[in-house]
Amino acid sequence: MSLLSRWKRRLMALWNPPGFQGVFFAIESLHLARAYYVAAELGIADLLAERELSIDELAAATGSDARALDRILRALAAFGVFAQDRVGRYRLTRRAQVLRSDVPGSLRAWVRMMARPEMWQAYARSLDAVKSGTPAFQLAHGQHFYDYLGRHADTREAFFAGLGCWTEWQSSQLVKAFDFGRYGTIMDVGGGGGSLLSHILAAHENLRGILFDRPETLSLAEARFAAAGLTGRCRTIGGNFLEAIPRGADACIIKNTLCDWNDEGAARLLRNCHAALPPGGTLLWIDAVVDPRSGRDRIVKMLDLEISALLPGGMRTQDELVALAEHCGFGRINIHPTAVVDMQIIEAVKAAETVPAVVAEPERHAETVVLNVGLLLPDPVALPAATSTATPLA
Ligand SMILES: C[S@@+](CC[C@H](N)C(=O)[O-])C[C@H]1O[C@@H](n2cnc3c(N)ncnc32)[C@H](O)[C@@H]1O
Repeated sequence: MSLLSRWKRRLMALWNPPGFQGVFFAIESLHLARAYYVAAELGIADLLAERELSIDELAAATGSDARALDRILRALAAFGVFAQDRVGRYRLTRRAQVLRSDVPGSLRAWVRMMARPEMWQAYARSLDAVKSGTPAFQLAHGQHFYDYLGRHADTREAFFAGLGCWTEWQSSQLVKAFDFGRYGTIMDVGGGGGSLLSHILAAHENLRGILFDRPETLSLAEARFAAAGLTGRCRTIGGNFLEAIPRGADACIIKNTLCDWNDEGAARLLRNCHAALPPGGTLLWIDAVVDPRSGRDRIVKMLDLEISALLPGGMRTQDELVALAEHCGFGRINIHPTAVVDMQIIEAVKAAETVPAVVAEPERHAETVVLNVGLLLPDPVALPAATSTATPLA
């Protein structure tokens, strides 16, 4: 290195004190996220999938101001998302492919969800949330996240479409990590759009499935089961898992759902699973695990921030997960690693009949969903063709 370069480096180091670039970049990435959101919302990658387009063509196709859109796209191009040819026309790059809506592994729906205005409004309350311990979303919108989804069909659709980007891939890996075929009937508690149950039932022809979720979400899963030809082996039930969970399954799955709740809500949910399961029944609890002292699980720590901004929960350590399961009457705990980053399947067996189900009104989830009492299925259950027994929310 020449003397001149050495001096230049020293001067740069003075100009950029330690940490400067890291902090600067982290804060400015807010605008990168914003640019991703605008591009995803406008469907720029889908437009460029056919051919290269000039900024005027893109602006006309999306009803945008050409100069403002150009700022967004050239910033993304600086990060390898889209590129420009010699005459300034934009084209897709490999990094931009996931912003297309029609490709396997698409993240477009997730980007659109995470940067929706309701979410920014919640993030704006981050400081108040940390001071008060109330989730930022609740402070911004005055209601629990899932109650908000219950009232806003467009946000609900966006949420489950975004979640689907992750869940679809996770489910394809989870069926390889664990033999779900050993059970007779599996209930996915808080099963959302039905991705995991579809994958499991497709992999095990003799298995039956029940998806239990809030009534307003069931139509998504039903459409999915119908499209996959699974309606003869699978049904949906609407209700509130903080109040009661119907019987009828010898295994209950809870995936990416316990992390939505604080210890009180999580214990309520686990005890209701315990009450729903027959003696010796299995709880399969699938969640990411956080290691407070490790710097290697950064993505889990980011997800932890995301979840706790929206809901009263957050990621737990493996020890916390095991202690909670034991506290709620489960034993013989086995932990199965999976190919999904930091995600584990915690298998726990119903150890005792003595743990009571919590039936009192949930404290944090103001709007309750009525569980149709007729849904306490006999055990073992003979399932009719799939039907929704949901009671829609007003
Ligand atoms: C984070 S999502 C996970 C969905 C799915 N397990 C997955 O991994 O894609 C949490 C799920 O819990 C459901 N849920 C939230 N509160 C509920 C309640 N009180 N009773 C029943 N389901 C509820 C939501 O509708 C949603 O489908």
